[in-house]
Amino acid sequence: MTQNTPHSAASWTPASWRQRPAAQLPDYPDTPALVEVEERLAHSLPLVFAGEIQTLRQRLAEVAVGRAFLLQGGDCAESFADHSEAAITDTFRVLLQMAVTLTFAAACPVVKVGRLAGQFAKPRSAATETRKGVTLPSYRGDIVNDLDFSPAARQPDPRRQLRAYAQSAATLNLLRALAQGGFADLHRVQQWNLDFLHSSPQGARYQDLANRISETLAFMRACGLDAATDPQVRQVSFYTAHEALLLGYEQALTRFDPQTGEWYDGSAHFLWIGERTRQLDGAHVEFMRGIANPIGLKLGPTVDPDTLLRLLDRLNPDHQPGRLTLISRMGADRIGAMLPPLIRAVQQAGQAVIWCCDPMHGNTQETDAGYKTRSFVRILAELQRFFAIHRAEGSIPGGMHFELTGQDVTECLGGAQAITEQGLADRYHTQCDPRLNASQSLELAFLIAETLKAYRQG
Ligand code: PEP
Ligand code: CO
Repeated sequence: MTQNTPHSAASWTPASWRQRPAAQLPDYPDTPALVEVEERLAHSLPLVFAGEIQTLRQRLAEVAVGRAFLLQGGDCAESFADHSEAAITDTFRVLLQMAVTLTFAAACPVVKVGRLAGQFAKPRSAATETRKGVTLPSYRGDIVNDLDFSPAARQPDPRRQLRAYAQSAATLNLLRALAQGGFADLHRVQQWNLDFLHSSPQGARYQDLANRISETLAFMRACGLDAATDPQVRQVSFYTAHEALLLGYEQALTRFDPQTGEWYDGSAHFLWIGERTRQLDGAHVEFMRGIANPIGLKLGPTVDPDTLLRLLDRLNPDHQPGRLTLISRMGADRIGAMLPPLIRAVQQAGQAVIWCCDPMHGNTQETDAGYKTRSFVRILAELQRFFAIHRAEGSIPGGMHFELTGQDVTECLGGAQAITEQGLADRYHTQCDPRLNASQSLELAFLIAETLKAYRQG
């Protein structure tokens, strides 16, 4: 019976996506080179391991029932040129600051997942780009081609996958050291504050929170509850995530785990399907349904409840809590109309999904000067509506997904620093979409911590 069912688990293999229409994959002119690269990756070490992925799955199952909260954040697109210890450390640090703010205010464990160590491939709304009458393939992320506008740079080159793999391994090595080697020790909560934040209102507010945490640790020690040796205080668990767009790369890093009989994509702990590649019968859904990693599904304003239910059936037929994170990215103006019917459909289907809000991708705008940007007020508005809608629907707002950096860039408008349209030009560095800077990220964490606290207190 099962062999005849086109989507049964039995018919899945790491390569079965190749039989399906695939959106957003590059056209590689050099096929032998592509085959050779995929072969080399298939013989390379996985970057993350089955046991870690299983732990994340358990932690996400806690998120799905409201016992923890998910924080995802990092670059829109990592780049080869900007790979630096400082940038990774700053992003890791601001994620820690946000997490500790949420944990402390709302008394809620936070599962931390970075858009890092593999977030290289980008979906594009157009396959080509035209400038001054010259048409070239669109830039699809450093793992595919180069941002430079020249025929050679825009040619997809499979060898870039090896560089992306090597850079991801190096990034992950640093992240593991930061998470476990003392940097993330809660006793150092004061030192996580970035220099340029010290003078800002967010910095001062953070310092106040850090003082309270330090006092709490001292109090516990005085009571004989010495947290000094507790790994929960000395280290953090930090997981990696990216969009599973470049399926040949993902397939090449997918391994069978004989202990569980499951397949794990070893390129990251968590992978998601983008808004432009969630076709029910498409290659991306096919690949993702067969891997045992927890997965995300981006939901833009065009998805209808019926399509969502079919996707849920395909991606989580066993209704495992924590397996699936639905990342809504509707835009502040549309979330009110679009999200409630989806929540109701999922409730009727009896699935324990995680609802996560990406307040970035539905709120992108362009300034008169041609900068792609997002405004802090709209980002905040979408998040607050997300919480209000879940409260009204009796469901659980499980997490947030941001494009952010720990660096002091000027890519999003507003926030306490009041970045203006003119100010965007100062430090606009993104490779792709506009990111929140450290101050804006922390400010959001403080504002949302209040909302989360109110929600958790009912
Ligand atoms: C992204 O997360 O960078 C992205 C492209 O998002 P979406 O698929 O939601 O447009
Ligand atoms: Co983006």
